[in-house]
Amino acid sequence: MTRIIYINGEWLPEPDAKVSVFDRGFLMADGIYEVTCVLDGKLIDYAGHAARLHRSARELGMTVPLDEDALLAAHREIVARNRVDQGMVYLQLTRGVADRDFAYPPADTPPTLVLFTQARNVLENRAAEEGIAVALLPDLRWGRRDIKTIQLLYPSMAKMEAKARGADDAWLVEDGHVTEASAATAHIVTAEGVLVTRDLSHALLPGITRASVLELAAGHGVRIEERAFTPAEALAAREAFITSATNFVVPVVRIDGTAVGDGKPGALTHDLRRHYIETRRAAAI
Ligand code: PDD
Repeated sequence: MTRIIYINGEWLPEPDAKVSVFDRGFLMADGIYEVTCVLDGKLIDYAGHAARLHRSARELGMTVPLDEDALLAAHREIVARNRVDQGMVYLQLTRGVADRDFAYPPADTPPTLVLFTQARNVLENRAAEEGIAVALLPDLRWGRRDIKTIQLLYPSMAKMEAKARGADDAWLVEDGHVTEASAATAHIVTAEGVLVTRDLSHALLPGITRASVLELAAGHGVRIEERAFTPAEALAAREAFITSATNFVVPVVRIDGTAVGDGKPGALTHDLRRHYIETRRAAAI
């Protein structure tokens, strides 16, 4: 089935959905994005993703051209038009079309807003059953990782390097501490059962799934420490896992070839995945 793409207020079949070569997203990676998970044809944790989109836009002096209601309606309509039961909605907003220049174009330049869907079975996930292996790699991204920009070359390079090393993904390390995975938040559970996740700063993306999982864990009496952790702490952890919109909670069972805990997905990780899916599925809109 040909997908229907949303582009600047129009709904077009995939082959007709085109953006100018002068789009600043294409020329300068001058754009932001969001990924919202779809389950049962509904949006998971939508409010968080919409709020973060506005935050990213504010940080870069961009405006989201749709109001709250229209943005939600566009998400719902793209899911309906493409009959997505499970998968994701991808939204990208760029500063629009202008002659190539390092200076931003005038503020009234219309932005480019694109939404598309990708269908994928998000519930049955081999990685969630078996866990993934990660490789530790230097974090060579820019200094404002709290903004969800479309400049994803280094995360792609890190993913490829991790795969070349026989792992599934990378955990990025800067100044002796883990920042995050290539496209997910990194967490560990210490031998004492404390869930450790990096505190929010410019160093990492404020994960929407991270926020939900921390809320669930706190509600279940899990002790939480929001602080940076070292690779050595991760290697000594009882459990490790990643969170992201499309993967929910996925166990990490090997770090640089060393087993985490007993090398099997951890019990808390398993519980958090189950609670996350149950509660967020029930609250989906
Ligand atoms: N990535 N950190 C980074 C660098 C990310 O790219 C992502 C998400 C996350 C997790 O954030 P959230 O829980 O809000 O999805 C953390 C998306 C899924 C992507 O780029 O496809």
